[in-house]
Amino acid sequence: MKLIAFGMRKDEVGFAEKWAQKNQIDVEITEDLLTIDTISQAKGFDGIIALQTIPYDEVLFSEMQKMGIRILSVRNVGVDNIDLVAAKKHNIMVTNVPAYSPNAIAEFSVTQLMQLLRKTPEFNLKLKANDYRWAPNISRELRSLTVGVIGTGRIGRVAMDIYKGFGAKVIAYDLHPKPELKEAGLYADSLDDLFEQADVITLHAPATKENEHMLNRDTFAKMKQNVLIVNTARGTLINTEDLIDALKSGQVGGAALDTYEFENPIFNHDLSHVDIEDPLFNELLGMTNVILTPHIAFYTETAVKNMVEIAFNSAQQFLTTGAVETEVK
Ligand code: COI
Repeated sequence: MKLIAFGMRKDEVGFAEKWAQKNQIDVEITEDLLTIDTISQAKGFDGIIALQTIPYDEVLFSEMQKMGIRILSVRNVGVDNIDLVAAKKHNIMVTNVPAYSPNAIAEFSVTQLMQLLRKTPEFNLKLKANDYRWAPNISRELRSLTVGVIGTGRIGRVAMDIYKGFGAKVIAYDLHPKPELKEAGLYADSLDDLFEQADVITLHAPATKENEHMLNRDTFAKMKQNVLIVNTARGTLINTEDLIDALKSGQVGGAALDTYEFENPIFNHDLSHVDIEDPLFNELLGMTNVILTPHIAFYTETAVKNMVEIAFNSAQQFLTTGAVETEVK
């Protein structure tokens, strides 16, 4: 069996090399992302391991089939950038890593919320201007607030536990409510009900066609004035233009965005010597009540180790047994 791993960062390589040695499997590693220009590197391999937010489209799956590739094992959880219909059509198994570290993402989302709440970005700016006054940046306390968690999968549930630990009132929404959370009375009656009650809304849902722009002009209008928004899930869940308007009007009091609708050309690139030609992004960058981070909620040692090892294990399991439990259905 021969595997090739695309888009490998330096912090992943050691884990991959250890895995290859332990399992006595040939592994080729490249920094290149998987695109139509790089896929020829996969010739002669049985499986591809990859991680990227740019699309895996039909052209790629068609090429994989021609080359005799049998599996695309992605090292992350989200699969919204994968054309699963095309993968099936071209007989390519797709696997993901459903739970590399829910804590990594949940902890980060709470961290960002705490910064928004305590207005540390504003204080940092003031410090730089030699302004050490407290007012007017007074905070609210988490235990006096209601946190609305949208998406109660693994990550959302860890976030709920952390927020409960802070003493916040937690309400949740999920298209598929979990019986134990329902029994505990943790769900809002509806999404609108959550919008009406929550002082903070944190997104933990996967991106689908149905929930694209679920936060938009109309839904912002249903929320409490000054609501705080945290997004460590997917940028497409929010209509960015509408968010900017809501931030300007004060309907939304602040936003912590680790994902951004048009992030692909920006996040995880060194753009220190170029101008970013994205007016929406530049507008967000300039807002003092917005905290932007480049899709780093996942980025912990535990998560990276698990992402690499589980993705390689999935490829190995599928290529040796013909079945694998991490298959994306
Ligand atoms: C995911 O696991 O889906 C993430 O959002 C992490 C990122 C590296 C793609």
